[in-house]
Amino acid sequence: MPGTPNPLSEMTELKGKVISKDERPNPSFLKSALPGFKKTVQGRRAIRIFDEQPIPADVMRDCLRDAVLAPSSSNLQTYELYWTQDQQKKKELAQYCLDQPAATTAGDMIVVVSRVDLWKSHLDKLVAMMTADGTRPLEGSLKEYYEKTVPMLLRTDRLGIHNLLRRFILGYKRQSGPMVNGPVRRSDHRVYGHVQATLAAENLMLSLAAHGYESCPMGGIDKKSIGRLLGLPTSAEVTMVIAAGTGKPEGLFSPRTRLPFDDLVKEF
Ligand SMILES: Cc1cc2nc3c(=O)[nH]c(=O)nc-3n(C[C@H](O)[C@H](O)[C@H](O)COP(=O)(O)O)c2cc1C
Repeated sequence: MPGTPNPLSEMTELKGKVISKDERPNPSFLKSALPGFKKTVQGRRAIRIFDEQPIPADVMRDCLRDAVLAPSSSNLQTYELYWTQDQQKKKELAQYCLDQPAATTAGDMIVVVSRVDLWKSHLDKLVAMMTADGTRPLEGSLKEYYEKTVPMLLRTDRLGIHNLLRRFILGYKRQSGPMVNGPVRRSDHRVYGHVQATLAAENLMLSLAAHGYESCPMGGIDKKSIGRLLGLPTSAEVTMVIAAGTGKPEGLFSPRTRLPFDDLVKEF
């Protein structure tokens, strides 16, 4: 309501830093959001035929802003989301999505890309932001974590020397108690990258749903050709493409099917 103060926009202090309460709503707000959240999560389905109309650009940008609020390991945000409004590029992208109907009829498509190869530049930017460009240096465990632990876990080289070193360091530390198992190998780094990218993808699909649009994640696609279309280096990997737009009734191909809850969720 106009003129009503928004309780969430009050500011709070955390270790000398001012944080908007939007960043951490109070529990009663979270509870009041539950019905909408349930509708969004339960209403999202993979939709495979759309009306071909683009989603308004401001809505799409809003959804993309929600996508990048996804959590990421060490907050390194090692992914990119590519969205185009160019018809020709969309057409080419649909071809590389093997002309799946979701792709050829989508109003929009977003390519979700794993960029674990960018870990160092993201780390440098993050540290610059956290330290106000070096004027408030990191201290204590945060300094240790971002200056030593993160580089130790993510640094790679062509010969695999850092992988070996990491295996040795983690193995040695494990002798005195539980220790992370990786990432150690290149395959671990690939998994790491796709995990972050996938979380952003899910945020994006849920935000689209909350905005009244539908989506279909697509992994059965020619990822290498899409990488070339986007001009990505070979160190980047496409995780998936999300087709989005206004779904047609016939775009829902089947009732929702889930395995028995107990097959998927284990209490121990
Ligand atoms: C990583 C991933 C890749 C997928 N690839 C495709 C795809 O290439 N084509 C497609 O039609 N659906 C694809 N799907 C959608 C799934 O088939 C769909 O999510 C699943 O059947 C469950 O249906 P629901 O999302 O409506 O609950 C993919 C989903 C995920 C998560």
